[in-house]
Amino acid sequence: MQTLHTIAELRSALSAHRKSGKKIALVPTMGNLHRGHIKLVEIAATEADIVVASIFVNPLQFGPNEDLDSYPRTLLEDQSKLQAAGCDYLFAPNNNEIYPEGRDQQTLVEVPMLSDLYCGTTRPGHFCGVTTVVCKLFNICQPDLAIFGEKDYQQLRIIRKMVSDLCIPVEIRSVATVRAEDGLALSSRNGYLSDDERAVAPALQHTLRQTCLAINQGNHDFRDLEAQAENQLSAAGLTPDYVRIVRRSDLLPAQRGDKSLVILTAAYLGVTRLIDNCEIDCNS
Ligand code: PAF
Repeated sequence: MQTLHTIAELRSALSAHRKSGKKIALVPTMGNLHRGHIKLVEIAATEADIVVASIFVNPLQFGPNEDLDSYPRTLLEDQSKLQAAGCDYLFAPNNNEIYPEGRDQQTLVEVPMLSDLYCGTTRPGHFCGVTTVVCKLFNICQPDLAIFGEKDYQQLRIIRKMVSDLCIPVEIRSVATVRAEDGLALSSRNGYLSDDERAVAPALQHTLRQTCLAINQGNHDFRDLEAQAENQLSAAGLTPDYVRIVRRSDLLPAQRGDKSLVILTAAYLGVTRLIDNCEIDCNS
C-alpha cells in the first residue's frame, strides 16, 4: 500500500489504473480506524480492482465547540490496518491540500432540507461540511464506487442525494453497522467514553430494539414511542438529543400507514455524542 499526501500524486497514480480499465473504489474516512471501517475496505477490495481509502479529519464538518482538536489521529496504526485489509492507496492530505485558500473561501456543496434535520439541527453546518469534502474527494479520486457505513444513516442519505442531484458518476454502496458484542455501534468517538459511560452506552441500541419491538407488536403511535424512547434513554443515564421514527424514503416523520421506517437517534454520554439507527418494516 502506498500513502500519498497530495492530489497530484493520487491523480497520477490512479490515471494509469483508470486507463487500463480498472474499477476504483473509494472509502472516505476520518481515520482512527475500527472494524467498521475495515469492513468497508474489505468489501471495496472484493468489488473493485483498486481500493483507495482517505483519511482526513475534515475541519469544515466540526462546529466551533466540537472535538476537532481532540479527534483521535492514529495514522501509523491506520496504515497497517488498511494494508492488511487490502487497500492499495491511502490518501492522507493535510488541511492546506484540501482547503488551499482557507475554509472561508471554500465553495460549499449543500443538500437543503435533509441537512437541517435531526443531527443537522444540533450540529448546524455539519452536513454542509461533509458534502463539501465528500464532493471534493469524489472529484479528486473519481472513483467508480464509494462505500459508507450505515451507522451514519442521515449522512448516507444526504450523500446519495448530492450524487443524484449533481449527477456525480459514482455508485454509492452502504454497509451494515458493525457492533461490539454488547450491541454498541463501533465509532471512533467510543474511545472518549470512561469505563462507566461505556457500560451505559449499549442502552442506545437496546432502546432502539425495544422501540422496534413495540412497533412490530402493533403500536404505531410514533410520536408517543419517540417520547417513551427518550425517557428510556434518560432513565439509563444518557442525555437524549433526539429519537425520531421516520420514513426511509425521505427521512420525514413517519405517519400511521407508512411501511419502510428507520428510527434515528443521537444521545450524549457526558461530553460524547453517540448516534445509532434501526431500520424496521411495518407490516401490520
Ligand atoms: O463519516 C465520516 O467519517 C466522515 O463524515 C466522512 C464521510 C469521511 C467525511 O469527512
